[in-house]
Amino acid sequence: MTDLELIITQNIHLSGRLWLMRLRAPQIVPSIRGGHFLMLEVSKTYDPMGRRAFAVGDVRGEEILIFYDVVGRGTELMSRMGEGEKIRAFGPLGKRLFSYEGKKHLLLGGGVGLAGLSLYGKELRDMGKEVVFVYGARSAEHLGMLDWLREEGFEYILYTDDGSAGRKGLITEVLREFDTSWTVSACGPKPMLKALKKVVKETGHTLYMSLEERMACGWGVCLGCVVKDPEGNYRRVCWEGPVFRAEEVVL
Ligand SMILES: Cc1cc2nc3c(=O)[nH]c(=O)nc-3n(C[C@H](O)[C@H](O)[C@H](O)COP(=O)(O)OP(=O)(O)OC[C@H]3O[C@@H](n4cnc5c(N)ncnc54)[C@H](O)[C@@H]3O)c2cc1C
Ligand code: FES
Repeated sequence: MTDLELIITQNIHLSGRLWLMRLRAPQIVPSIRGGHFLMLEVSKTYDPMGRRAFAVGDVRGEEILIFYDVVGRGTELMSRMGEGEKIRAFGPLGKRLFSYEGKKHLLLGGGVGLAGLSLYGKELRDMGKEVVFVYGARSAEHLGMLDWLREEGFEYILYTDDGSAGRKGLITEVLREFDTSWTVSACGPKPMLKALKKVVKETGHTLYMSLEERMACGWGVCLGCVVKDPEGNYRRVCWEGPVFRAEEVVL
């Protein structure tokens, strides 16, 4: 991992609160794998303090794509950055990534959590594996990565809470349609991951989850991102994760 200054080549609004930032990063592109993330310096001042964590959503040539939801001060400042500006980035981070074992992979993304799986999905497909994405959000306008799924030609199933696109209901229910030969990987809000953990207890699927706990340092020092394992020990998501098997952590 390296601390770099990267050039923003594009920063555009996609849909709902989702934005896309493209960064020219030839120095780190060769070492990036699906599930990796970067800590981006969203402000040069103490407002807000600290860097923000973002998954590497995709890699195109020498560029990295960051899909981000504007949810607070830091991401609001990010959305104001323009083409040609520089941004400091620390990474790629993440030691334990998703599993490449098995031939069939079901990838469940809740909202912008899909960005934590998108590059991994491409890797699996390049390896000749069968990949189905399941993408859930509150409503159609929050399915901002749908164009990415279509452009990439992936098979996908959509869910929305209000039924404005795809199926109405909870993304977790989809597991009952796929047998246990499918490995399940997920990234999204904690309530979704908690619900998934419950469902796989019934269905018997192997579930890998990329956790997106709030992070301050991103490299194992501040303990700001810890989760407990079933024995009560703390695990640093940034350092021991961000991907864990469902039974390894308590949510
Ligand atoms: C490994 C990792 C990968 C991530 N990848 C992405 C990504 O690809 N795209 C993306 O949009 N976001 C991603 N996130 C979440 C992103 O880091 C936060 O949304 C961002 O830090 C918010 O910064 P802010 O200053 O705008 O919001 P803040 O002002 O810090 O917070 C605004 C609101 O968002 C909540 N919030 C902040 N961080 C998180 C979090 N990590 N989880 C849940 N709620 C949070 C706060 O509680 C608050 O309610 C990732 C987080 C991690 C740890
Ligand atoms: S964010 Fe500091 S230890 Fe994980």
